[in-house]
Amino acid sequence: MKNQANKLKTLVGQKPTDGSHVTHFVAITSGKGGVGKSTISTNMANILSKNGYKVALFDADIGLANLDVILNVRIQKTLLHVLKGESTLEDIVVEVKPNLLLIPGESGDEILKYNDQFIFERFFQEAKALDGLDFLIIDTGAGIGENTQIFLEAADEVIIVTVPDPAAITDAYATIKVTSKVKDSLLMVLNMARNEKEAIMIFDKIKKVAHQNIGTHLNLELLGKLSEDKGVARSVKQRTLFTNDAPNSLASSDMKKIVNNLVYRLERKVLDDNSSRSFGNFFKRLMDQF
Ligand SMILES: Nc1ncnc2c1ncn2[C@@H]1O[C@H](COP(=O)(O)OP(=O)(O)OP(=O)(O)O)[C@@H](O)[C@H]1O
Ligand SMILES: [Mg+2]
Repeated sequence: MKNQANKLKTLVGQKPTDGSHVTHFVAITSGKGGVGKSTISTNMANILSKNGYKVALFDADIGLANLDVILNVRIQKTLLHVLKGESTLEDIVVEVKPNLLLIPGESGDEILKYNDQFIFERFFQEAKALDGLDFLIIDTGAGIGENTQIFLEAADEVIIVTVPDPAAITDAYATIKVTSKVKDSLLMVLNMARNEKEAIMIFDKIKKVAHQNIGTHLNLELLGKLSEDKGVARSVKQRTLFTNDAPNSLASSDMKKIVNNLVYRLERKVLDDNSSRSFGNFFKRLMDQF
């Protein structure tokens, strides 16, 4: 097992040093809540940053933000301050560690009043300061709400997380259906799967239903599974990251495989598409939704 984990470590792409620069925008979402989105986004960002990529985690769970708690960092200001025009985006960004930034969300209702175009325009102006990022990982809220869809539409890659229980699968399917209206390609992560075989079986069923009801134009891919692991839950309770606490565990090797598949996919895409993308452009695309 240890050998396998070590091998995976070397597989996860190191940041290319040839000076080429693209910012990848990856949104993580789910139908049902509590299926592991924040656990996956924080550990994904951690692995990427350890591999030399400059990563920002954007806590886009509007009204229920909690990545500061998960990452055990103190925040003073949030997205709400930016939207109100009281702070710049640069003011609210917190460095979790080198190469890993947090853009804190707001965990109160007040932010819901501020999602109109003018406000996002201001946010977009501020966003320019954060160029130079390799990855922006967007942890969205659960469900198919309008707020979440805005982020999914603006992202390059959308990862839908589900667990094997039927209610979560039904909700994941609803998310796929709604999101397929704006994306031709969606990725899935099966969390709490017992093993790879179970993950593939569940994924194949979802894919079959999706193709029957949405059409075969939708490209649905399984990015990987994350095993149920007491160590994952323990790290969440301790406000640490399992990919740091137990880097050779099965869960960590699952997570590395997921990141590896994602990096491979994105790098392949960059070869096909050389359009320049920046953090500023991401917010421009966000604004275009209004
Ligand atoms: N692979 C796993 N093994 C064990 N426990 C897990 C695993 N993944 C997630 N959990 C547990 O599930 C709980 C919910 O996870 P998390 O907060 O990441 O979900 P979420 O989808 O972000 O929830 P919300 O919809 O509320 O934002 C966490 O307390 C965590 O301990
Ligand atoms: Mg969450």
